[in-house]
Amino acid sequence: MNSILVTGGAGFIGSHTCLSLLKKGYTVYVLDSYINSSPVPLQRISIILEKENVKIDDKLTILKGDLRKESDIKKIFEIALKKNKPIEAVVHFAGLKAVGESNKKAIKYWDFNVLGTISLLKVMEDYDCWNIVFSSSATIYRPKKNSLMDENHELGPSNPYGVTKFVIEKMLNDAFRSNQKWRIINLRYFNPIGAHPSGLIGEDPLGIPNNLFPLIMQVAIGKINEIKIFGKDWPTKDGTGIRDYIHVMDLAEGHLKALEFLINEKPQICNINLGTGIGTSVLELIKTFEKINNVKIPYVFTGRRKGDNAFVVADNSLAQSNLNWIPKMNIEHMCRDGYLWQINNPNGYLK
Ligand code: NAD
Ligand code: WQD
Repeated sequence: MNSILVTGGAGFIGSHTCLSLLKKGYTVYVLDSYINSSPVPLQRISIILEKENVKIDDKLTILKGDLRKESDIKKIFEIALKKNKPIEAVVHFAGLKAVGESNKKAIKYWDFNVLGTISLLKVMEDYDCWNIVFSSSATIYRPKKNSLMDENHELGPSNPYGVTKFVIEKMLNDAFRSNQKWRIINLRYFNPIGAHPSGLIGEDPLGIPNNLFPLIMQVAIGKINEIKIFGKDWPTKDGTGIRDYIHVMDLAEGHLKALEFLINEKPQICNINLGTGIGTSVLELIKTFEKINNVKIPYVFTGRRKGDNAFVVADNSLAQSNLNWIPKMNIEHMCRDGYLWQINNPNGYLK
């Protein structure tokens, strides 16, 4: 499999994955509407590869288009046919991901995430393309006590965003049941953070970020005054919430391993966690960021966030055994690379 369509390839995880794919010699087609991104990260990818002396020639094709429109998806499949490099697999990132917004605008999330995926699967069938890696999320699990979650952990998303990921997984299961040509991997990401070590691409949230790590980065450069820590009485070692933070470059590598698995194994559908298996508390993340980057991150404690959880950490043994994927980066790398991206790009991709 050499030619890959990356939906949402201009986004945070998509751009880092495109970079890894191109570096490995894949031909990459990106379809993105830029609703939550811009073309800049894709331009920066070429700069990074040039610096690394990796020639990509015409291996990167970008089309601005909306996944909810079958005609836009067909356009990119046609471009690939004309180039004589038909799309053989899809890495499907495109969608909306803000939990808070999804609570207020549930139908918008069903539209972008579910309808977008239905259009994609229809066009893939039309073009005889049966291989897909889907960006699912640990948010579909119902966390219980402080134990690692494997792929058989009880499901139960608590917000519309999570529900869309859950129903897309169900839909993909039905697709496989109805036609066993499909090869499908649902990758359930935990908490992706960090940036490419060049500091040229990274996470660029629109407006005020909701997630902890982008907030820490913006406090570090003085854009935000302090972190509000949501609760200090969780049943954890220091009373703050514990998460499984994973470096976005390790996550990108997980997609390459997933594609290799798809091609080498029999047609199937499987669910695989991508996390490090290591839990880090809010306070530990802040302290590590301060130490490694020699900056101060002021914080105050506030009440718990509605629907929050104490402990969300992956059992990643399936990714290790099936995909031969082992995360290489630790929390210090994540804090170092995230900060470099943020100080070099205080306003994100906007100059
Ligand atoms: P992102 O918003 O940075 O990237 C998503 C990209 O999809 C954006 O470039 C956006 O413009 C594009 N897009 C959205 N709707 C589209 C449409 N209808 N047509 C074409 N393009 C469209 O998000 P991300 O953090 O890179 O996440 C990528 C995927 O991973 C998402 O599906 C997300 O739900 C999932 N995920 C993310 C996280 C996380 O914490 N970042 C965790 C688990 C799962
Ligand atoms: C991490 C920790 C908070 C903000 C979210 C989505 C999930 C997935 C990943 C897509 C928690 C604490 C946070 C703040 C804080 N995305 N916190 N103050 O909630 O684990 O997961 O991103 O699929 O769906 O829900 O990430 O970064 O919001 O929170 O104290 O201002 O930081 O309580 O313990 P979360 P997060």
